[in-house]
Amino acid sequence: MTSRFHDRTALVTGAGSGIGRAIALALAMEGAQVVVAGRRREPLTETVRLIEEAGGKALAVTADVTDAADVQALVAAAVDRFGSLDVAVNNAGVFRGGQPLADLAEADWHEQLGANVTGVFLALQAEVRQMRTQPAGGAIVNIASIFGVHARHPGAAAYSATKAAVSVLTRGAALDHIRDGVRINAVSPGAVETPMSLRPGETEAERTERAAATLPLGRISTTDEIAAAVLYLASDDASSVVGTDLVVDSGATA
Ligand SMILES: NC(=O)c1ccc[n+]([C@@H]2O[C@H](COP(=O)([O-])OP(=O)(O)OC[C@H]3O[C@@H](n4cnc5c(N)ncnc54)[C@H](OP(=O)(O)O)[C@@H]3O)[C@@H](O)[C@H]2O)c1
Repeated sequence: MTSRFHDRTALVTGAGSGIGRAIALALAMEGAQVVVAGRRREPLTETVRLIEEAGGKALAVTADVTDAADVQALVAAAVDRFGSLDVAVNNAGVFRGGQPLADLAEADWHEQLGANVTGVFLALQAEVRQMRTQPAGGAIVNIASIFGVHARHPGAAAYSATKAAVSVLTRGAALDHIRDGVRINAVSPGAVETPMSLRPGETEAERTERAAATLPLGRISTTDEIAAAVLYLASDDASSVVGTDLVVDSGATA
């Protein structure tokens, strides 16, 4: 086992499920103590259990990323418990769509804008404010999507707008803070093996068939494949990678 994150403290939002849980587990398996965050306690507790069962260290903190006070308290909890914040992965996000833009409820627009854009903005602020006080700085990875600046898809206009914002916010923030010792990058996944990539009414078997027929690789990405890309960007292996947006999409946008 490699341990690129030995004795480092990592924070992962949206870590109670899907991609976020895989990232939290992968960081813990490479030596990080991981603070896992989300709104619901129960899935976070399960992520902590999985990490501890595998011999790692983790702490669950409930936080809504759309709430500035929650996000500040989350970063403070990481520092109080483990002494620093070295890695942060802003993964929490929601997809509301499937229908044409004109038929999207306004509440769904606001929910996506809140979690996907304001949530990343607030987290970046709180994380950078901590990391720039640390001699070793820190590394941040935001989870965008190919449905942002890389690709377009019917039924996803609002979601795509929020994810394009994540890609662009990443690049701007990266320039603002690299001289503070904080490296900021993004990963843009294509379809990943979580319920979010199922079309309305689609089964997992139908998704597998669709991927076989339409994706260059012939299958969607695993959560571990997204985690591997995130860990690369968060690690010293990527020490001169700044403001990039790494696409991991089975060749969908090749
Ligand atoms: N799956 C895909 O195909 C795919 C493709 C491209 C990009 N992505 C992106 O990857 C990320 C993870 O997606 P996923 O597929 O793993 O979906 P998921 O299982 O639904 O995970 C999203 C997580 O975010 C948390 N969350 C949502 N709103 C939150 C808020 N306001 N505050 C705090 N936590 C919040 C949720 O937990 P709570 O409900 O408990 O808060 C949940 O654990 C998202 O940003 C998504 O847009 C996914």
